[in-house]
Amino acid sequence: MKWSTASKFLLPFLISTAHSASSVPSDYVSVQVGYHVVFSYPGLQPPTHLFDLIKEGKVGGIILFGENVGNNLSTIVDQFQSTYKESPSYAGTPLLIMTDQEGGEVRRLPGGPDMSAKQVGQSSDPQDAATQAGNAAAGALQADHLNANLAPVLDVYRQAGDFDDQFGRSFGNTSSLVSTCGSAFVSAQQSAGVIATAKHFPGLGAAGTNQDTDEEPVTLNVTLNELRSVDEVPFTKAIATGLDMVMHSWALYPALDSTYPSGLSQKWIQGELRARLGFTGVTITDAIEAGALEAFGTDAERAVLASQAGMDMILASARNVTQGESVVDALVSALNDGTLSGDSFSEATNRILAVRKKVTA
Ligand SMILES: *[C@@H]1O[C@H](CO)[C@@H](O)[C@H](O)[C@H]1NC(C)=O
Ligand SMILES: *[C@@H]1O[C@H](CO)[C@@H](O)[C@H](O)[C@H]1NC(C)=O
Ligand SMILES: *[C@@H]1O[C@H](CO)[C@@H](O)[C@H](O)[C@H]1NC(C)=O
Ligand SMILES: *[C@@H]1O[C@H](CO)[C@@H](O)[C@H](O)[C@H]1NC(C)=O
Repeated sequence: MKWSTASKFLLPFLISTAHSASSVPSDYVSVQVGYHVVFSYPGLQPPTHLFDLIKEGKVGGIILFGENVGNNLSTIVDQFQSTYKESPSYAGTPLLIMTDQEGGEVRRLPGGPDMSAKQVGQSSDPQDAATQAGNAAAGALQADHLNANLAPVLDVYRQAGDFDDQFGRSFGNTSSLVSTCGSAFVSAQQSAGVIATAKHFPGLGAAGTNQDTDEEPVTLNVTLNELRSVDEVPFTKAIATGLDMVMHSWALYPALDSTYPSGLSQKWIQGELRARLGFTGVTITDAIEAGALEAFGTDAERAVLASQAGMDMILASARNVTQGESVVDALVSALNDGTLSGDSFSEATNRILAVRKKVTA
């Protein structure tokens, strides 16, 4: 039932194939689910099976890591996009091909930004340096034909050498400096035609040196007042400049939700980011295989929980095509059995397509 009411949100070409809820073909559902899932693969040459899935419309994007980056990356990206044009979900908008090109040590592609976020924040004119960093990131992505960056980091670090500071990933230790730099980076990169992603909402700045959500559960006992008056400020400013995407952190913030980490939390995604801060763009998870989520089942089960909480895109970044496929299959099942609301899912699809319309293949 829920699924049939969702059809009003769908694209015309999908509506023409839609029937009653009971006879919705599973390929029809998987084409819509495809928009929501970002895949990854090992090594320099993508597996043939990934191209098959792209052609079937089951892939919405691909995240690239250092191990995927060779001299012929732009050719491979072009192959992804030309394969996608044959798929039923192409809809005139390209796959989102993304990476982490933050600056300094955290760069997957050749090219800038040479400066880390920390160096940008410490420069004589941080706003100008951040604008140059955003332009350099856009240039590096576009040289290899990528269209979305999982940057900038908008965390406000607390202690020298802590989780964000140790690799220079934070622009600074004050909301005002991070806001100035973050918004300048976002504006420059988006003006150059590359999608920007602010991370890690509501902020990982309070995480200590070894509090790494990739590895294990992280609890940040920061008061809601401090989260709102320090950590969320750079996000609020970036949203005001027209930010495209937000990546949620996998830390647990008991001040607002003592059960679910931010990226699985309806309170954080829908209550705080959307209702309170007014964000209307796309939300994306951090790595769905992260150690922080060990209590929340398989990657596929975590993806269903994230989608239920309001997460638009799922990052299947274990460099394993089967992982992405398992996420697609789980979301298809959850839509078909009503675990996921078709209406909410279609609204998320529309947000994703709106962001994708900003970039061209
Ligand atoms: C890209 O380069 C890698 C490493 O040299 C090679 O294995 C692969 O076949 C190349 N792929 C294409 C599409 O040229
Ligand atoms: C930020 O770091 C500087 C230099 O390490 C320090 O002097 C200042 O007190 C810090 N500010 C805050 C708000 O922690
Ligand atoms: C955070 O609070 C919880 C529950 O009150 C406590 O168990 C934990 O030790 C605290 N963690 C830190 C780092 O203070
Ligand atoms: C890839 O992902 C699938 C599905 O999650 C999992 O069963 C498999 O063990 C993974 N393979 C590797 C090499 O990690």
